[in-house]
Amino acid sequence: MAGKRERKRRRPPLLLRLLRGILALALLGGALAFYAFKIEPRWIQTTELEVTAPIEGSLRIVAFGDTHIGMGKDQAEMGDLVGRINAIEPDAVFFLGDLFDNYAAYTGDVEANLAILAGIEAEYKYAVRGNHDVGGGAEFVYPELIAQAGFTLLENTDARLPCGLHIIGAADYIYHTPNLEGLTGEGFDLLLAHEPDLADAVSGVELQLSGHSHGGQVYLPFLVQEFLPGGAQNYIRGRYEKADGGIVYVNRGIGMSMLPVRLFSRPEITILTIHGEE
Ligand SMILES: [Fe+2]
Repeated sequence: MAGKRERKRRRPPLLLRLLRGILALALLGGALAFYAFKIEPRWIQTTELEVTAPIEGSLRIVAFGDTHIGMGKDQAEMGDLVGRINAIEPDAVFFLGDLFDNYAAYTGDVEANLAILAGIEAEYKYAVRGNHDVGGGAEFVYPELIAQAGFTLLENTDARLPCGLHIIGAADYIYHTPNLEGLTGEGFDLLLAHEPDLADAVSGVELQLSGHSHGGQVYLPFLVQEFLPGGAQNYIRGRYEKADGGIVYVNRGIGMSMLPVRLFSRPEITILTIHGEE
């Protein structure tokens, strides 16, 4: 009898069902927005990449970039970042560009942020310039800012570590002109280039590390194109292998641009281990 009564129970009116649906969607949207604005931007993922190269011994390198200080990131986040990097005890650290989001509009404490970043402990620290290190009034101050943070700027220049690793830094691909003539070719070349799509314009590079894309930042099929900047249309996140055998690795960055939001594109620190060839 009870079962029959159950079956006879009338469905709620359409309007009520509609209201319930809208409420459920609003709750889901609210939870997703909270996650995208408050949780994911601070939820750093550490990824690993391993390659072999003709160097003596092996090297543990940390690559990070796109801090975009001022856009949802400031001293507290930089302090947390430096702690995480130092815990990895890297031999070398590479910064892939985009230090401040908009240097001219930044109202926080520039010196304090740079002093925190200068606390990164590694024997070798190299940086390249990103498009936000040219725009936003940063063009003429970036070399000084990044030096204060303890990094040597490579801009169409190179460096060789005592173990033999050859590192090249490209100029920004959006405002400036990368010119790697005479820098690439024989031997193992590790290229640091903010914009990953530079990979299609260079050859003879065994490994390229880039940022810029933020991994899409909001990685939803119908939105990701809105967030992908020029210079990161072909290489968006993670590891790629080029036809010439070169590897391109795109780090998703730490910070954000346009909006302080990340969805399905967690901030990333990359640990690159280079094993010497026997
Ligand atoms: Fe960026």
